[in-house]
Amino acid sequence: MDCTAGIALLGCGTVGANVARRLLHERDALERRSGIRYDVRGIAVRDAEKPRRDDLGGAPFTRDARALVDDARVDLVVECIGGTGEALELVERALDRGRSVVTANKDLIATHGPRLRALAASRGVSLRYEAAACGAIPIVRMLDDALAGDAIVALAGVMNGTCTAILSAMEAGADYADALAHAQACGYAEADPSADVDGDDAAHKLALLIQLAFGLAVISPRIRRSGIAQITKREIARAQMLGYRIRLVAAAARTPQGALAEVAPVLVRADHPFAQGRGPENAVRVVARDAGGLVFTGNGAGGAPTASAVLGDIVTALRGLREHRDLAAHALPLDAALEIAPFFAELPRHSELPRYALWDDTLLDAPVSLASQAYS
Ligand SMILES: NC(=O)c1ccc[n+]([C@@H]2O[C@H](COP(=O)([O-])OP(=O)(O)OC[C@H]3O[C@@H](n4cnc5c(N)ncnc54)[C@H](OP(=O)(O)O)[C@@H]3O)[C@@H](O)[C@H]2O)c1
Repeated sequence: MDCTAGIALLGCGTVGANVARRLLHERDALERRSGIRYDVRGIAVRDAEKPRRDDLGGAPFTRDARALVDDARVDLVVECIGGTGEALELVERALDRGRSVVTANKDLIATHGPRLRALAASRGVSLRYEAAACGAIPIVRMLDDALAGDAIVALAGVMNGTCTAILSAMEAGADYADALAHAQACGYAEADPSADVDGDDAAHKLALLIQLAFGLAVISPRIRRSGIAQITKREIARAQMLGYRIRLVAAAARTPQGALAEVAPVLVRADHPFAQGRGPENAVRVVARDAGGLVFTGNGAGGAPTASAVLGDIVTALRGLREHRDLAAHALPLDAALEIAPFFAELPRHSELPRYALWDDTLLDAPVSLASQAYS
């Protein structure tokens, strides 16, 4: 690499456009923080003729993402396309050619993370994905750096803004169809909301966090999940009368054999941090053996908050390039998980709403002894 790092940005949609704008217009500040100069060698999009925001006029758009990744002047590839189709092929191609990669793509890490980490490690480059779990909340770094000397026992949280927005609208009286339409109008829900409302998106984030927190090679198809589409207005009103809200909670705990892990709608007390969000806010509780319980809340989605996490990863990756060493986070080999058992199956139920487990933070403390055995 010469003394200017080359960056390839793949995708310029909700997240990518915010990343592009900041890379192009806040170069001085970002270079100062990175300690290295950079050039944006290209921005790959699907449709090069599509009108873009005014502040991206003159940006180096291209439709040929493969050629951009192959450009010998590119040191760092930032993937903001999404999904596991071309994004996967491009990320593998980039790692294989010795480029470091930053991605916001939870589907990718949740389903191919263990393999991609191994590929990055074998090429001596880094794979960073702070934005992929809970948007702007720096949970990946927190698990990977700040708590690296501890042992994570369990974690749980509200990680899908679409579900929170729909359930909140139903608490205000809307029925499911109207609440979904409202969430779509606010930009929280996709035109096809199934990945969100069926619990798949939260399961992706949970798989990604399990990989980091427990060092286990767990991919999201192994995690049991149920969504929110069957929840009735009556159940929501009843929960409110009893002092609860229904929230889609993703939870995992380390066990000697692997982990307990599940995504399901549960009853959460109305004053609990998991019940406070009305839209894209996420809340995650982590229990570490020595640090104890820690709670993280913040914007889990949205173009600018997600781009903030992507830019943080870019600055860290640039610092690694500056020092001619890779900070190779997330490259430690993962262990096999023999058993991934459901989390909520045996939990207490409220007699008036027996379909839903009752959330209690001490559920995350209970497996401490199991976890201690798992780590011993
Ligand atoms: N949106 C959020 O709040 C959020 C939050 C956390 C994580 N994420 C993750 O961030 C990633 C991006 O999400 P997004 O919401 O920004 O998606 P998006 O708005 O749909 O943007 C996707 C971008 O990828 C481009 N693209 C699609 N196929 C391509 C290809 N084959 N080659 C080159 N470019 C291609 C599209 O080009 P055109 O512009 O030409 O169509 C578009 O610019 C996803 O992995 C998502 O899960 C998003």
